[in-house]
Amino acid sequence: MIDITDTTKFEDLGNLFGNSDIFILSYVVSEVFDDAIKLQDFLSKMMEAAPTGSKFIFIERNEPRWIERINIMSEVAKLTLLSEPNLTNTYMSFDEQRTQLGKLPEEIDWSPRANWNAFWVVGTKE
Ligand SMILES: C[S@@+](CC[C@H](N)C(=O)[O-])C[C@H]1O[C@@H](n2cnc3c(N)ncnc32)[C@H](O)[C@@H]1O
Repeated sequence: MIDITDTTKFEDLGNLFGNSDIFILSYVVSEVFDDAIKLQDFLSKMMEAAPTGSKFIFIERNEPRWIERINIMSEVAKLTLLSEPNLTNTYMSFDEQRTQLGKLPEEIDWSPRANWNAFWVVGTKE
């Protein structure tokens, strides 16, 4: 486990990002919404260490503020986004419904979503 809002300790972790070609940030930008500057630092550090040609995939809630934040963060980190955001908005298939979870949602007092309204976009380190 690493705290992505504290990059000061990353140096102790060795070549953490240098040996990967694909980095996926799935619902991370909106999760760390009140730490934009620190998240920027995280992305910039990843970009510095990542191999040329590696890909960064962002998956996020379909809201203008997350699209804008990813655009800004990518520009600052010199990550080239390869397209406009790709929107995806649909429901889980019929064999992946809440009922499959039995009593779990009731026990943890939480109802998982069976639909999503999201976007994805891929960037590359040139
Ligand atoms: C909405 S969840 C998305 C989880 C997963 N990526 C997915 O797509 O299902 C956001 C994730 O960000 C992680 N997270 C939030 N703040 C973090 C931080 N400071 N350092 C590392 N991870 C963090 C949470 O633990 C959680 O797993």
